[in-house]
Amino acid sequence: MNDIIEEYLSKLSELVGNAVGIVMIFTDPEGNNDTKYVDIPTIDKLKSTLDYYGGFKDAGGLNSIRIEIVPADNKHESITSFMLTTMPGCCGACVSSNVVVNPNYREKGVNNLTNRLRVRLAKALDYGLLVCTTQMSNYSTNTLKSNNWKTVEEFTNPKTSNRLGLHIYNLKDFNDN
Ligand SMILES: CC(C)(COP(=O)(O)OP(=O)(O)OC[C@H]1O[C@@H](n2cnc3c(N)ncnc32)[C@H](O)[C@@H]1OP(=O)(O)O)[C@@H](O)C(=O)NCCC(=O)NCCS
Repeated sequence: MNDIIEEYLSKLSELVGNAVGIVMIFTDPEGNNDTKYVDIPTIDKLKSTLDYYGGFKDAGGLNSIRIEIVPADNKHESITSFMLTTMPGCCGACVSSNVVVNPNYREKGVNNLTNRLRVRLAKALDYGLLVCTTQMSNYSTNTLKSNNWKTVEEFTNPKTSNRLGLHIYNLKDFNDN
């Protein structure tokens, strides 16, 4: 079987009509404050990069990775980006956040496909549960539903008055069709 990341890159290339790549972006944990872009074309490369640097900490000290899908010939343009963060206090759960699709690439199914990629990556990284929130009015809420996420609660954010949904994916249920 092909590598998960290779499979999704090939599907994404078909969607956007151009070859795409995938990079992990992080602040150099060796202390130089440099931003590093590492190609992670396979799960093995993703895992070995994480192992090499001993995991990542964002500015708040959380274990977090930021991933960007880019055109293969222009790694400075983002097609879509997102973050996966270990839930504070529970190394078995992962929070998916900061999903953005570049306006030039919207409504082609990029988020739908990369949502499934996020689930696959979380499973490959040995999490048991993936969690996210959305504004209930956001299109991404429908994408979660069609990709078999469960909405466990709706609530109003007292800070913004936005109506939000809390969604989970039990990774033991993942079935990639
Ligand atoms: C929301 C967002 C991620 C959607 O990305 P996308 O790649 O355009 O979404 P997709 O093409 O995968 O669309 C998935 C579904 O939503 C629908 N959809 C997406 N954008 C739409 C729009 N502007 N109008 C109507 N339908 C839309 C698609 O038709 C598709 O429906 P289907 O599955 O029934 O065919 C993107 O618009 C975005 O980055 N917005 C700004 C940041 C944001 O809101 N992030 C999400 C935070 S939770």
